[in-house]
Amino acid sequence: MSRLVVVSNRVALPGASQSGGLATALDAALKETGGLWFGWSGKVARAHSGEVHREAHGEITYLTVDLSREDYEGYYNGFANRTLWPLLHFRLDLVDYNAMTQAAYRGVNALFAEKLAKELRDDDIVWVHDYHLFPLAQELRKRGVRARIGFFLHVPFPSADIVAGLPHHEKTFGALSSYDLVGFQTERDLERFQDYIRLFRGGRVAGQGDLRDHDGRQFVAAAFPIGIDAAAIESLAATAARSPVTKRMHASLNGRALAIGVDRLDYSKGLPERFRAIERFFERHADQRGKMTYLQIAPVSRGGVASYRALRRELEQYAGHINGAHAEPDWTPVRYVNRTYPHPALTGFYRLSRMGLVTPLRDGMNLVAKEYVASQDGDDPGALVLSIFAGAARELDGALLVNPFDSDGVSDAIAAAMAMPREARRERWQSMIARIREYDIHAWRKDFLKTLAATRG
Ligand code: G6P
Repeated sequence: MSRLVVVSNRVALPGASQSGGLATALDAALKETGGLWFGWSGKVARAHSGEVHREAHGEITYLTVDLSREDYEGYYNGFANRTLWPLLHFRLDLVDYNAMTQAAYRGVNALFAEKLAKELRDDDIVWVHDYHLFPLAQELRKRGVRARIGFFLHVPFPSADIVAGLPHHEKTFGALSSYDLVGFQTERDLERFQDYIRLFRGGRVAGQGDLRDHDGRQFVAAAFPIGIDAAAIESLAATAARSPVTKRMHASLNGRALAIGVDRLDYSKGLPERFRAIERFFERHADQRGKMTYLQIAPVSRGGVASYRALRRELEQYAGHINGAHAEPDWTPVRYVNRTYPHPALTGFYRLSRMGLVTPLRDGMNLVAKEYVASQDGDDPGALVLSIFAGAARELDGALLVNPFDSDGVSDAIAAAMAMPREARRERWQSMIARIREYDIHAWRKDFLKTLAATRG
């Protein structure tokens, strides 16, 4: 079996606190086949030494490089998170384009390729992750790498006209044709990518997912909706239900229903819109005041980018405003927490909650939605209120689907979730958990790697 080489901006070194579904997914993939995981060390040095840090743990060797302060600003805070992130989430209004940060992005991809090329063998399978690394395969090919290289985009691929709004978009997005396989979260993302290749790249779609770039280069694109480790989450949640932290949370509710949202503090998550829907819920359903508490867990993210700092200030004000207007001496409608919680605690909170609110304005998949469902007690499950603009909405047909821009509509869905009889909740839950168990993280990974291995005949 070929050796697997994973490349991602963030590398989840064993023992470090893992951030989100990406880390969990890749760790599981590497444990099975063994191999290398290459990426940024997470450290910012005054100037980069070019040194590759090497750490072996069992079958996996972790190779990481530090970024210089300048590269961190230009590549990570700059082009990746001020330019590409908003663009990919359909927010041309927030795109901050700058030729210098674009050059830094290219430079870090070239640096990664320089270091990684020396480690690679022709029969390796290389799997590159996410928008930080679009040009990596092109840079590796320049250095003579012949191994199969696949790419998976964890975030949405936007409409072709939005992509074309980025100056020199072909430098970044055209580089995708250097991969053997490009994977997306949903069929919709794949279709939008095919439109881009056709309309703005001078390429053509020879068959669904069978693409030709303008120079005739053939490559494959397909959808692989990422899953979770369903069995692990289900068992974590069952155990967490009896843990002291869950019990303390339960006691603090004084018999009230709990609604929960867990999101990185990011403008793509639709948090002000969600707070607005909560406020509308208490305004429009006066009988529900004092019956439900909303817990928003929102770990601070990318504080080096101004739009994230502005969002943080906005949410602090908004939570204060809702509580000021609606709280009673013995009831606070919104509990707003910026801390990060470990998975076991989160699954316990999910299981305790009468509903999960997952209402991003745009989201590649959203694994919180899947983890919320997998954490429920099947006998008395909570309801999921889910945005139609999350990739997960394509699979989770048992959710109450909402348009996150429609605060009255979301507040009605919250009311429906509060009133939903147990039998209806069970039925909806069963259809969702069946899909989550069937196409879990292991099925996802195997599907991608099998498809990658089958490229080039
Ligand atoms: C999203 C991205 C990941 C990223 C994560 C956390 O899920 O798809 O690539 O790692 O956010 O963001 P951060 O900037 O802290 O890595």
